[in-house]
Amino acid sequence: MNKSKNNTTQNNTTHFGFEDIPVQEKADRVAEVFHSVADKYDLMNDLMSFGLHRLWKRFTLTQSSVRLKQTVLDLAGGTGDLTREFAKKVGPHGHVILADINAKMLQQGRSRLTDQGIIGNVTYIQADAEYLPFSDHSFDCITIAFGLRNVTNKSAALQSMYRVLKPGGKCLILEFSKPVLPLLNTIYDTYSFKIIPKLGAWITRDEKSYQYLVESIRMHPDQIQLQKMMQECEFDDVTYYNLSGGIVALHQGFKY
Ligand SMILES: C[S@@+](CC[C@H](N)C(=O)[O-])C[C@H]1O[C@@H](n2cnc3c(N)ncnc32)[C@H](O)[C@@H]1O
Repeated sequence: MNKSKNNTTQNNTTHFGFEDIPVQEKADRVAEVFHSVADKYDLMNDLMSFGLHRLWKRFTLTQSSVRLKQTVLDLAGGTGDLTREFAKKVGPHGHVILADINAKMLQQGRSRLTDQGIIGNVTYIQADAEYLPFSDHSFDCITIAFGLRNVTNKSAALQSMYRVLKPGGKCLILEFSKPVLPLLNTIYDTYSFKIIPKLGAWITRDEKSYQYLVESIRMHPDQIQLQKMMQECEFDDVTYYNLSGGIVALHQGFKY
């Protein structure tokens, strides 16, 4: 059955990794994954990416051009890597909202950032990217890092993000994408399917969640498809950068 770019069919099924499941079950299945991996999430991120996720996030921060006193939404913010840096950039008179659908990831994020002294200008909100509980035109910048591929209805999330972005604001989507070098593709495939689930089993005792994570990367729209989806959701001047040979891409779009 052909799936739309949103990964849903007319039969109301969607992808959960390589599995086809009823649309209404996806959010709960994704919640189970992140509930299970939350405690070891940061360690696994470093191990799986050889620390590269730090560079990809640093590039995202540079591209954001966020400055003092601004208001930023770090959507699907999880354990708060981007939120921490945004909180420093906006300063005490700015504001960062870390929003995530998963209570356990939020809790990890809040206690980690509080331990690191990031307090006063960060708010933690449990929210679904598809139905953002904020007024129109609220944020100077919105980021979603490694979150969009887990969302059931990606267009609904993009529309919701567009709605809450201020005119002149910028939206940045950091996500796994499609490697652009043929040899890299083969090595990356072997690494993803043979090593990552085993690493997950070893560190978190949960191979299945990491199997889902690598499968979800393959099912996610590639660079061009995501660019089109953003344009269809009204974002202006949508461009992207391939990072690490396209293993990851950073898409950016504006609201004029
Ligand atoms: C791979 S983690 C990324 C966390 C963080 N942004 C980072 O880069 O380290 C994906 C996050 O997306 C969140 N998430 C999944 N579906 C979501 C949704 N529909 N709305 C908001 N957050 C969602 C998960 O709970 C999880 O915390």
